[in-house]
Amino acid sequence: MSAGQGGQNGGDARTEGGMKGGVLVVDFGTQYCQLIARRIREMGVYSRITVPERTGMMMAAMQPTAVILSGGPRSVYDADAPKLDPQVLAAGVPVLGICYGMQLISDQLGGKVEPSSEGREYGRTNMNLVAESPLLKGVSAESVVWMSHGDKITALPEGFEILARSEPCPAAAAENRERGIYALQFHPEVSHSEFGAEILRNFVLDIAGCSADWEPGCIAERKVAEIQKLVGESGEVVLGLSGGVDSSVAAVLVHRAIGKRLHCVFVDNGLLRKGEREGVESLFCDDYHMDVRVVDARERFLSELAGVTDPEKKRKIIGRVFVEVFKEEAATLDNAHFLGQGTLYPDVIESVAAHGGATATIKSHHNVGGLPKDLNMQLVEPLRDLFKDEVRALGRELGLPPSLVDRQPFPGPGLAVRCLGEVSEERLTPLREADAIMREEIEAKSLHSNLWQYFAVLLPVQSVGVMGDKRTYEEACVLRVVSSQDAMTADWELLPVDVLQRISNRIINQVSGINRVCLDISSKPPATIEWE
Ligand code: XMP
Repeated sequence: MSAGQGGQNGGDARTEGGMKGGVLVVDFGTQYCQLIARRIREMGVYSRITVPERTGMMMAAMQPTAVILSGGPRSVYDADAPKLDPQVLAAGVPVLGICYGMQLISDQLGGKVEPSSEGREYGRTNMNLVAESPLLKGVSAESVVWMSHGDKITALPEGFEILARSEPCPAAAAENRERGIYALQFHPEVSHSEFGAEILRNFVLDIAGCSADWEPGCIAERKVAEIQKLVGESGEVVLGLSGGVDSSVAAVLVHRAIGKRLHCVFVDNGLLRKGEREGVESLFCDDYHMDVRVVDARERFLSELAGVTDPEKKRKIIGRVFVEVFKEEAATLDNAHFLGQGTLYPDVIESVAAHGGATATIKSHHNVGGLPKDLNMQLVEPLRDLFKDEVRALGRELGLPPSLVDRQPFPGPGLAVRCLGEVSEERLTPLREADAIMREEIEAKSLHSNLWQYFAVLLPVQSVGVMGDKRTYEEACVLRVVSSQDAMTADWELLPVDVLQRISNRIINQVSGINRVCLDISSKPPATIEWE
């Protein structure tokens, strides 16, 4: 799902179903902002991220119990440095400033921030406590913290006390306890800060007294009520179902809310894995009794892709044809004025980083749920405030099978980006078979729970082989197996030799069109997970 899609609703508080309280995190451009929000949710406390310009609006809508000001790459004295909304310090709720957030507090309340004469302080540093504070309860007198800053505070505002120092930083931690304002020059959210998790807990649970009632596995009923309210007594929803985790969980929630007034559209683009369409039909039609319209568009996609070998062209064609097919099907549903989508929270967070400039397009992503604005339908996005693993927890609560909830990611353009060179049914068939064999062998040994993705890729490279005394001249396939936390980086993984042997033997003996199996041992970066 693109950020642009999420952006249709502005990523603001009104879509969050009236969740109030919790911790508002203001993103001043740090790479760690989502990490701060995740850490807080892991404590069972609701948290949201906003950009500096929307802080006032979010304060009013969310009425947070506490506010955290993140770090950021700027200096407070830069002309265009993001500013702290004065409402934050005026609201009377506990505030924690981290790094740039600390410097903003200091600057706003009359302290002094200056470039560090020793240069940047980056990475691990020893911190020594110099005063007691509820913020640092349980922290050792000396501990390791993670710093990343160029400026430092040389004079704290009136009413502030220094709590800890590091060698180059006279105010590594400070507080104005009376006003409930706390500040850290280091990053408690990164795992390298030894007592970082404790410090965040001290602030969120003890100092701010936030209630730990955020449990993604227990929110199904609230979501269902929200959908009913939005769609009303007679509204109908159309939803692009891919069989992936996000669209499936969204579909089950909407179905629970409005039953047969949900119409799912599943597009068979001819680029699916073995058994995928049948799996979706059996689960959603037979078990859940949903209205799923399976559109057989295999020929249409494959004829549009004929002769195309450029990866970006393939992706663009698939994205365009999907939208065309979806629109045509949606047009047959006269009464469906709502569009259901499995948009997640990371897709809608308005982060400073997201606005921070152009990033190079490595691959133009296509997602089944990502539809253009001109559909002119009202969006129903029940997962807009959830992170991916929270969606999985919700899926479990809704009774979706583990095979779906814990399913490995599968790209929107499907096997087309794993069928290097020309995409044709003739080449997709062996790829589909090889991929199915690989999955079967890995899952039979229960190796999949530690793997992020495992799949086969077909290369447009022919090599000579010999089978039953006959010469073969067929294509090669590659086994791609990776571990990852978030797909941003990935490591290649080596399967046990006996499993590799079985996969290789079965593919070469059983799959006509492939006579050689290779291993991909490239990490991301510099490679990517998919080959195209
Ligand atoms: P790369 O190949 O960029 O992939 O390392 C990162 C992750 O994204 C998945 N992927 C996609 N997912 N639509 C999707 O929904 C796409 O167009 C797409 N392209 C790549 C890929 O499988 C991996 O998990």
